[in-house]
Amino acid sequence: MSAQILITGGTGLVGQGIKYAIETEPVNSHFGKRDGEEWIFIGSSEADLRNKGQTEKLFEKYQPTHVIHLAARVGGVFANMARKLDFLRDNLLINDNVLHTAHEFKVKKVISCLSTCVYPDKVEYPLDETKIHLGLPHESNFGYSHAKRLVDIQSRAYKEQFGDNFTSAIPTSVFGPHDNFDLESAHVLPALIHRCYLSKTNNTPFVVWGSGKAQRQFIYSRDLAKLFVWMLHSYDSVEPLILSVGEDEEITIKQAADAVVKAVGFKGEYQFDTTKSDGQFLKPATNKKLLGLLKDTDFRFTPFDRALMRWCNGSYKTTWMLGQASRSSDGHGFKAILTSQMP
Ligand SMILES: NC(=O)c1ccc[n+]([C@@H]2O[C@H](COP(=O)([O-])OP(=O)(O)OC[C@H]3O[C@@H](n4cnc5c(N)ncnc54)[C@H](OP(=O)(O)O)[C@@H]3O)[C@@H](O)[C@H]2O)c1
Repeated sequence: MSAQILITGGTGLVGQGIKYAIETEPVNSHFGKRDGEEWIFIGSSEADLRNKGQTEKLFEKYQPTHVIHLAARVGGVFANMARKLDFLRDNLLINDNVLHTAHEFKVKKVISCLSTCVYPDKVEYPLDETKIHLGLPHESNFGYSHAKRLVDIQSRAYKEQFGDNFTSAIPTSVFGPHDNFDLESAHVLPALIHRCYLSKTNNTPFVVWGSGKAQRQFIYSRDLAKLFVWMLHSYDSVEPLILSVGEDEEITIKQAADAVVKAVGFKGEYQFDTTKSDGQFLKPATNKKLLGLLKDTDFRFTPFDRALMRWCNGSYKTTWMLGQASRSSDGHGFKAILTSQMP
């Protein structure tokens, strides 16, 4: 049967991971496309999803039967702290336009994307799928968090009122090819890599923002991608699903920085700036529900160090312009940073 699968945010970190899975996983396998499916990856140049008219035109053009909705204003803790209203409004508009247009076009299934960042600041750990709304989010990203939480509420409302098959995935911190290395808006790992590289190049101390004690669960974008493809074919509940490595694989920012120092080959002085925020201190999430559902598959997570090395040592095709918000065309921005400095 033919299916048109539209990926909003398809040009970003997670979207490009899914594109890679579609291009490389065996057809009709648990993590690959199926016969008769067309996967369409779009970015903001095709439609500004904050605009309802542009969103409708997009749906008219592609007539999607399924949507993986990733498009969002996304950023690290410092970008979130600086622009709470932008994170709130842009994400509210994008999500409402995509979900309502999907409803109007009778889309058979929508998977939207939440994040473990949106969970309550004060909550009993580990995080699981039942705890999203049990308290206020961390104040550093309350705009993003409230907008994202509403995706779950809205999906449930479409399900209850109209029977729509809308659900949400909840990834932990993602990294991999096509990540954003812009120091103003990057998430922690690409920001660490970029700063460490600048320290190596300029022979200055490598300063890690925060105490280094905060903990994060990182998932490699290419692992996450396989889980999204599997979820599209095999998961039909409105209840959100956490897509994450195990809670025992949570690592400190210091451990992540150590791995970055090793990958970059930095040998200089290395320190922590404790005047900078740690963001939410820890947020271990359990993947018990996910593992139960995956038990009949051969899915395995890529170990963190191996995924980091694979990402950092990938080839590159375009030049990284230091200081500009840019990604290399094949997503291996780190290698591109290194090469851009070479004569
Ligand atoms: N990165 C993480 O650590 C993480 C963790 C948990 C959850 N998530 C969620 O995963 C999803 C994807 O994140 P990501 O890291 O892949 O983000 P990303 O790399 O920043 O990509 C964002 C995507 O959204 C698109 N977009 C942004 N504003 C748009 C607009 N107004 N109209 C249309 N498209 C727009 C971008 O298009 P352009 O390329 O054209 O700008 C891009 O394709 C998001 O929903 C995010 O909340 C991410």
